[in-house]
Amino acid sequence: MKRTWWKEAIVYQIYPRSFADSNGDGIGDLRGIIGKLDYLQELGVDIIWLNPVYKSPNDDYGYDISDYQDINPDFGTMADFEELLDQAHRRNMRVVMDLVVNQTSDEHPWFVESRSAKDSPKRDYYIWRPGKNGKEPNNWRSFFAGSAWEFDPQTGEYYLHLFSRKMPDLNWAKPEVKREIFTMMKWWLDKGIDGFRMDSINLLVKPQGLPDAADPADMSFYCNQPGIHEILYQMNREVLSQYDVFTVGELPYVAPEIARLYVDEDRQELNTLFHFEHLLETVDKNGCDLVEFKHIQRRWYEALKEKGWNTQFLNNHDGPRMVSRFGDDSRYRVASAKLLATMTHTLPGTPFIYQGEEIGMTNVAFPSIAYYRDIWTVSRFQELVQKGADPEKTLRSLQRYSRDNARTPFQWDDSPNAGFTTGTPWILVNPNYREINLAQDLQSKDSIFYYYQRLIRLRKETPALVYGEYCPFLEDDPSLYVYERALDDDRILIVLNLLGEARELVLPQEVAEAHRELLLGNLEGAEEAGLTLRPWEARVYRCC
Ligand code: GLC
Ligand code: CA
Repeated sequence: MKRTWWKEAIVYQIYPRSFADSNGDGIGDLRGIIGKLDYLQELGVDIIWLNPVYKSPNDDYGYDISDYQDINPDFGTMADFEELLDQAHRRNMRVVMDLVVNQTSDEHPWFVESRSAKDSPKRDYYIWRPGKNGKEPNNWRSFFAGSAWEFDPQTGEYYLHLFSRKMPDLNWAKPEVKREIFTMMKWWLDKGIDGFRMDSINLLVKPQGLPDAADPADMSFYCNQPGIHEILYQMNREVLSQYDVFTVGELPYVAPEIARLYVDEDRQELNTLFHFEHLLETVDKNGCDLVEFKHIQRRWYEALKEKGWNTQFLNNHDGPRMVSRFGDDSRYRVASAKLLATMTHTLPGTPFIYQGEEIGMTNVAFPSIAYYRDIWTVSRFQELVQKGADPEKTLRSLQRYSRDNARTPFQWDDSPNAGFTTGTPWILVNPNYREINLAQDLQSKDSIFYYYQRLIRLRKETPALVYGEYCPFLEDDPSLYVYERALDDDRILIVLNLLGEARELVLPQEVAEAHRELLLGNLEGAEEAGLTLRPWEARVYRCC
């Protein structure tokens, strides 16, 4: 296994709109982030991934880009960005940008020109088709809601948008599109950024001939089409390989056997990836199906261990908070948040922290749909209610998975609006900010924040946690997760009890016989508790 800085790194994801507002307009911004770099450094972060900060009309808050080479004025200026980059670098932190090239905004000049006339030179920068018998060209659906086609009266044709109608898909079959994007990437890399998180990157190539989907609601149909690897290889050869940078591809609907092709180091496409199997396939009505979760971890480990690399994360800006989804956000919030952190930082792959998870921020339930800002939640709500669903019930069912759970402002302290802004925040603050906030965590050495610090330090001091072999035990146990990470003579044993009740730990013989030194635990008194694991207890041992 080749050793590289980005395998050893801790990545921290910032959703700039909700992180820190420096000028009181209610929107987080770049100067707000600059003001928190010392904090991130203290936490132990090596790489910051910024959700999109480019110019955007904010239909999908930055994933609809109208200028790839400018900063959204909500967030500041290019000079602010350059200062952020410089200040991060001075603190030995790198900055990774979101690369959003499956689509642009409909306000991007390319699209404005493209839609102006059928014979516009930029017409086929996007995907246009005539209607079929007065209807959409095919039955494709948008990932958000409704058809993936929008009729444009100006030229009487439809354009494709796999996300909102304000987000037309680029046509990657057009060589000029590829060239423009590669040039833009180089421009940012020459500015000194340290890599890209590549949005929906396995969607760039559309199913050949745009045929009807057998099941249009099965979104896997739109992913991993032939030709995608050639594009990524070329992007790597012509752009990325010229720099020492980190790339992580967002790959919805990818099985480990296919994912391997994207991250096999000999194939020179991406460094690593986000897959979502552990988030989508493990959900049952009790929370998480741990046996399935372990199974997924094992399959991914086996598929990538020779030549690939995985990531570990349990939340991001697109879904619920991890402590609400996988942990217990009421009685055992602190213990379960620490346990989940222990898991993501000791399983194989580069760990990602999503802003606020390091203080155990939780889901939120806004009182009505009017408070939701996320286009997915709002358009899904409208679609279901139009079809006759009960608005109250629909709201409750969407609340649990709404992307706004992750997008409430960072809870810095217990002052009004959680110290996020002196103005009116663009989205409501989670009302629990008086109890859950960073200032509070900094006051107690047992806090989630300090636990993250210790955990990060431990991972950095322990190559086995990065490069070690992954050996799971008790794979059929529905609430204990026990595994070893072993490198040369160093064997680290991780023991997790994902249950709100005590459990007796029966270790397999080869582990039971070893002498164990406790390196880290999330509850006091682990020695006295012996082999009884208390509710949501997590321990990390060195075996010798
Ligand atoms: C990705 C982003 C998500 C966005 C979508 C469209 O899934 O993470 O936030 O809405 O792509 O760009
Ligand atoms: Ca602001």
